[in-house]
Amino acid sequence: EAGYWSYDPGFKVTAPVESKITYIDGGKGELLHRGYPIDQLAKNAEYLEVCYALLHGDLPNQEQKDDFYKKVGKHTAVHDQLRKFFEGFRRDAHPMAIMVGVVGALSAFYHEGLDVSEELHREITAIRLIAKMPTLAAMSYKYSQGEPFMYPRNDFNYAENFLYMMFATPADVDYKVNPVIAKAMDRIFTLHADHEQNASTSTVRLAGSTGANPYACIAAGIAALWGPSHGGANEAVLKMLDEIGTVENVPEFMEKVKRREVKLMGFGHRVYKNFDPRAQVMKETCDEVLEALGIDDPKLELAMKLEQIALEDPYFIERKLYPNVDFYSGIILKAIGIPTSMFTVIFSLARAAGWISHWLEMHSAPFSIGRPRQLYTGETRRDFVNIEDRK
Ligand code: SDX
Repeated sequence: EAGYWSYDPGFKVTAPVESKITYIDGGKGELLHRGYPIDQLAKNAEYLEVCYALLHGDLPNQEQKDDFYKKVGKHTAVHDQLRKFFEGFRRDAHPMAIMVGVVGALSAFYHEGLDVSEELHREITAIRLIAKMPTLAAMSYKYSQGEPFMYPRNDFNYAENFLYMMFATPADVDYKVNPVIAKAMDRIFTLHADHEQNASTSTVRLAGSTGANPYACIAAGIAALWGPSHGGANEAVLKMLDEIGTVENVPEFMEKVKRREVKLMGFGHRVYKNFDPRAQVMKETCDEVLEALGIDDPKLELAMKLEQIALEDPYFIERKLYPNVDFYSGIILKAIGIPTSMFTVIFSLARAAGWISHWLEMHSAPFSIGRPRQLYTGETRRDFVNIEDRK
């Protein structure tokens, strides 16, 4: 027989996760955060407002917004001792490898006295994480460039501050951030903020269900996100576009996809069997940014050609394969000067809000340790065999 449950199903098993944070209708291509449609949030709200909604249930009023922004602003710096952590890495270490390490290291700085059963402790953890992710992300980039770390500045907004810490140097005393780029960056953060029970969020919830230190749980989420089937796809899309090279090579590449030799990165989704609503906003943002910056990037034309062919080809139509959030994001990030190695770091920076919101939601009600079910398909019971009798 195919296999059998390895314990009596009467045992308490991990039920499907209940959550009020994000709703996805994969058939309709709909994504709501606390009921608000993603396209409306991406075009009208700042990322920190979306973070507030993910954490607290509603978009903030002006007083709540001012208070939240002030609290986040107070926690953007990291302990100076953390610098030593970076120095342990090779300069050419992948920034995601660094992020797994340094975000996990926060659990060593925020451990004594942290009681996750206390709501106030959980709240400050969420604020600390959202505040420090851009600082650590920018530090992982600066370290790879051999440039000095830049301290966060609170006269910049969240996205401007990140871009400042990424690209400014101590000599830039009057650094200005291009508002078009800052707005696009903030929108990209929003488009990646949360996505229900995806692989990395499920990892954070499972780790959190043991009562583990929240920063260590987030580091586990970063590790899961790094994979090319998940958050690493944005980096893989750019590599794929580089390999294809020109529009003339698209038909031959598509044949390779149909022979299952390669995947069309940035396409397909476990849940969306229609357009990923984030991909559509990302594509509009891509057009806006390239036009505003006067960039004529042949990769955009190549990506649009791939999309056009895939949307007309029965192979993709039968399998309901559409562009996902990762298909166009890399083109924008490249246009604003972000190196491909940092694409998934930016995804992790933005998704930290979703991860910690799910961690908070789980801790806000009684929960038990996660234990996914297994269908055993191995050997049935058999006796031990002495080595001289083994074949
Ligand atoms: C993210 O879960 C989330 O919400 C994730 C995410 C989030 O915000 O957290 O949305 C972020 O991870 C987006 C996805 C990024 N990954 C990629 O773009 C990598 C390329 N995509 C594939 O690897 C794939 O589509 C997955 C991993 C995203 C989904 O994999 P599934 O669920 O196994 O795909 P499926 O079962 O729906 O596939 C159906 C068919 C299969 O063909 P058959 O073997 O049945 O003939 O479609 C094929 C698949 O082989 N297929 C693809 C394809 N994706 C699926 N064929 C070519 N290219 C692809 N990209």
